[in-house]
Amino acid sequence: MRRPIARAVTGALGLVSAAAAALVAPATATADRVIVGGEPVEVADTPWVVALSSRDRFGGMRAGQFCGGVVVAPTKVLTAAHCLSSDVLGGAPEDVTDLAVIAGRTALTGQGGQEVGVAGTWINPAYEPATNAGDLAVLTLKSALPSSYVLATAGPGDTAYTPGTTASVYGWGDTTGNGTYATSLRAARVQVLEDAACERAYPGNAKGDYQAATMLCAGDPQGGRDACQGDSGGPLVAMGRLIGLVSWGSGCGEAANPGVYTRVSAVLPDPLPVSASRS
Ligand code: ARG
Repeated sequence: MRRPIARAVTGALGLVSAAAAALVAPATATADRVIVGGEPVEVADTPWVVALSSRDRFGGMRAGQFCGGVVVAPTKVLTAAHCLSSDVLGGAPEDVTDLAVIAGRTALTGQGGQEVGVAGTWINPAYEPATNAGDLAVLTLKSALPSSYVLATAGPGDTAYTPGTTASVYGWGDTTGNGTYATSLRAARVQVLEDAACERAYPGNAKGDYQAATMLCAGDPQGGRDACQGDSGGPLVAMGRLIGLVSWGSGCGEAANPGVYTRVSAVLPDPLPVSASRS
């Protein structure tokens, strides 16, 4: 299947390797739409969106941003498990000593908000890298964020999962499908789609294997609005609640290939797990 990538996997100097670049989704017909098909937002209005950062691994130009995350408790941030894979980080999360989340900063080039170190990581033991089933990890922060940053999570049976529901996805990822990473936070309006739409697009072929038990299908039936590379781990929000995390897709913004998200209600443990601590 198509391997998801966070940002293009980079070396210690933040240079995009040829091998990683080959994994980046090709440009699409909607490549000039700018997430893709979105609009700028201020993190002050959506304080639960955070950037995952390592300047050691991804360079300082965009404050080391490589994935998104979402605050679900003052010291807990959810992200995608694949964001912490060695494909993305070039090693174990424990070896990324400057792993941090950036909260309260709209533009990665700015100084606002705060950077908080990651004290521990928990990767869903049921996560399957081959299919991305169960793509969820929990970060425990070294210090607490304001409780006003916390976003509520949807539980099983939440009406926000009803197909047709309007949802928004947030991130600092690729705005074109060509590797044009945003420096400022963006959001795109998509809708929750029937599982059948993703089962058709991703029947377990080279494009992917959609598994409704742990995945959620969302996008724009006309195409054009979607998450893209670098948005992984970031939130999909409907009715004021977290329903998904950006996980994978084929291309970006293609009508026939919706975005696939982690189904938070099915994968998030309750209570939140205790993360293994980092030295
Ligand atoms: N795997 C990508 C990442 O790590 C997210 C891709 C989402 N793609 C999509 N078409 N919705 O950033």
